[in-house]
Amino acid sequence: MKIIMLGAPGAGKGTQAKMIADKYSIPHISTGDIFRANIKNGTELGKKAKEYMDQGLLVPDELTVDLVIDRVAQEDCKNGYVLDGFPRTIPQAESLDAALEKRGEKVDYAINVEVPDENIINRMSGRRACVACGATYHIVHIPTKTEGICDRCGSELILRDDDKPETVTKRLNVYHEQTQPLIDYYNGKNVLVEVDGTRDMKDVFGDIVKILGA
Ligand code: AP5
Ligand code: MG
Repeated sequence: MKIIMLGAPGAGKGTQAKMIADKYSIPHISTGDIFRANIKNGTELGKKAKEYMDQGLLVPDELTVDLVIDRVAQEDCKNGYVLDGFPRTIPQAESLDAALEKRGEKVDYAINVEVPDENIINRMSGRRACVACGATYHIVHIPTKTEGICDRCGSELILRDDDKPETVTKRLNVYHEQTQPLIDYYNGKNVLVEVDGTRDMKDVFGDIVKILGA
């Protein structure tokens, strides 16, 4: 099962992608998480990506596409995967489709998690993220047992640099301009499904499971 998560920044793509990955035993591949891990480790890719991410801009396709195409060709992806944050531009989607087509494969579901812009800014300022294991929390909606510490791996949580309100507004604009067109793109391929992301995260997941099948 090859799944793509679509949705605005903060819509809950990462939250739902992790639950999907656990339930269906497939890898969760988040380009944002890959870039953040590279930033943390001080790699060349991390240094380049950070320049764009801190401004709320997309990392150029040249730095993003090959990374994902190599990743989905790995052995652990043979039964499927959930892509979170990729593709984010039409050229990224076309490159992915072309790479899959060469192997006689295709995307099965593009799940659009719908949340209006008004809800997003509030969610982002409360988000806390674990760079060590990728877990995400919210100080009100999904609190940790000990404040500031990841329940899953015990590492210290961060407020992402790009979650400041002014950067979130910029990311939303970039989303509407560059990523939202993917909704029509995948609708045209008959793989688009939509869920209401404003509901409780468990209800959102319930809707996704109804679509994917138990
Ligand atoms: P990325 O890390 O992908 O960020 P994003 O798309 O902006 O999305 P977020 O991770 O902010 O939100 P999410 O939808 O995953 O929401 P979450 O589940 O955390 O990318 C970061 C940057 O990297 C980009 O800006 C870009 O620069 C670069 N990049 C990445 N991929 C790229 C690509 N392909 N091409 C180019 N550049 C790329 O939820 C948000 C919060 O809400 C959390 O606190 C969560 O706990 C809470 N929450 C979740 N669900 C609910 C719910 N139902 N009710 C209440 N609260 C909820
Ligand atoms: Mg995310």
